[in-house]
Amino acid sequence: MFYDRIIIEVISLKILVTGGLGYIGSHTIVELVKKGHDVVIVDDLSNAQLETLDKLESITNKRLPFYEMNVTDEKRMEALFIQESFDALIHFAGFKAVGESVYKPLEYYYNNVVSTMILAKLCIKHHVAKFIFSSSATVYGDGVAPFSETSPLLRTTNPYGETKAMSERILMDTAFANKGFNPVLLRYFNPIGAHESGLLGELPNGVPNNLMPYVTQVAKGIREKLSVYGNDYDTIDGTGVRDYIHVVDLAKGHVAAVEADLNGANVFNLGTGKGTSVLEIIKAFESENNIKLNYQIVDRRAGDIATSYADVKKAKEVLGWEAKLGIKEMVRDAWHFEKNIK
Ligand code: WQD
Repeated sequence: MFYDRIIIEVISLKILVTGGLGYIGSHTIVELVKKGHDVVIVDDLSNAQLETLDKLESITNKRLPFYEMNVTDEKRMEALFIQESFDALIHFAGFKAVGESVYKPLEYYYNNVVSTMILAKLCIKHHVAKFIFSSSATVYGDGVAPFSETSPLLRTTNPYGETKAMSERILMDTAFANKGFNPVLLRYFNPIGAHESGLLGELPNGVPNNLMPYVTQVAKGIREKLSVYGNDYDTIDGTGVRDYIHVVDLAKGHVAAVEADLNGANVFNLGTGKGTSVLEIIKAFESENNIKLNYQIVDRRAGDIATSYADVKKAKEVLGWEAKLGIKEMVRDAWHFEKNIK
């Protein structure tokens, strides 16, 4: 049987990526450029390094337009919309430290929610149809896993989580009132790992809040020991269970979302659908990287829930996307990146 050659033409989109030098933004840019899209990067470098731009250009072998600015600077942002005429926007820029948000609520609400409102307004005014929003599983609050996109959104335990829930609500209401404005809300579970080059990865400011960067810093000797926050949860071994997803899989989920033909507001979980405990992460890290980790069990961390993992059916059915990489690749790549940090 002769198969007709099927030419699948992927249209090259011009995409504004806010927070593009950050952890998830930088990995997403690699995957967007790999698919032939043009990106314009905006970042205020409050939680990113300028050298990441050089690393991105060496990985992609392309010059990447970059503008250092905060997305709440409406005047400069609008000038960019006029200059570049974007096909889509991916909004990563935002403060993301759960603990810090409790002490700096106004900074978090202003930076995370006002930026979303300004960008939505500019997208409508300048006819940018697709707005991909970096949301979080934290919007499910202390609900019961597995979380599906229709699971109730419970009040989160911190202002950071509330900025995500509010931004989602604003984008959904704006989509309802503005036909042709199509926000896609991507609810990340727990992104970890790093690009295979070891050039891109998670670079937290100061003491890491999240598990994986703390683990890699203990392995490197930067931190003395890992505190495991509680082993008395109702889970497989008493420690917290989360849906860890490789950041490269997460990046590919953004490409699938930006290329998908979607109308109105759409919501997708980006996870693996599997839960892994803290002790299981420690054991996987130790055996994959042949390193003994120093840790101690301490009290629970305020605001933590026992178990969180995703129902991932919808992204697979609608976006044709699913996570492919496992815990072994995640802990291997996270360590490879940490070792490369000067
Ligand atoms: C994972 C597990 C901890 C650190 C948060 C936000 C989410 C997203 C990712 C921004 C839990 C345990 C952690 C440590 C530990 N936000 N842990 N010792 O809390 O699931 O999600 O970060 O990027 O929106 O809610 O991630 O990595 O902090 O914790 O035992 O030193 O590891 O108790 O069970 P979390 P996490």
